[in-house]
Amino acid sequence: MNMHSTKPVPFAEREFRDVLGHFATGVAVVTTCHEGSAPIGMAVNSFASVSLDPPEILWSVSSSAPSRDAFALHGAFAVNIMSEHDKDRIMQFARPSDDKFRGIEWRPGWRGVPVLSHAIATLECETKQMIPCGDHEIVVGSVRAIERRDGDPLLFFRGQFSTLGGAV
Ligand SMILES: Cc1cc2nc3c(=O)[nH]c(=O)nc-3n(C[C@H](O)[C@H](O)[C@H](O)COP(=O)(O)O)c2cc1C
Repeated sequence: MNMHSTKPVPFAEREFRDVLGHFATGVAVVTTCHEGSAPIGMAVNSFASVSLDPPEILWSVSSSAPSRDAFALHGAFAVNIMSEHDKDRIMQFARPSDDKFRGIEWRPGWRGVPVLSHAIATLECETKQMIPCGDHEIVVGSVRAIERRDGDPLLFFRGQFSTLGGAV
């Protein structure tokens, strides 16, 4: 058998998702707003650092996400990194709803983007680029303001939430 075949090995989408799920991440709520109207937010785990100087980060948004257009229109967003106590809050932002901010404490940050009070860190960003890539778009942000608070993160691994101390 040729062990060095260059032919791609076919795999199912389910298997691909499962393999991606082996990369443990934190969980963030990315927020933006319509000028003068309701705040917008969605749960993501695709956040990553990109550049230190200039300070830039990225995340990816599904091209079919109902909130996608609001991010493209406003041109500014905040990445709110969530704490180990925030599983229920995260799930509030993980499905389409007009009422995602019910019971969520927040204040308007740079260009009005919602900064969540429970987040353990927040990066307020100007959208530098939205790069189409398959069924998602990579959103690159230039970081304009940062803050951090005490607390441990919520983790996401193999489709489950956990904490540094174990399952939640
Ligand atoms: C842990 C977790 C991580 C997620 N990561 C992403 C992501 O990186 N990009 C994305 O487009 N959707 C992601 N989602 C799904 C969105 O949160 C979900 O589709 C949400 O409904 C999007 O908001 P919208 O319906 O207002 O557009 C994630 C969901 C969960 C629970």
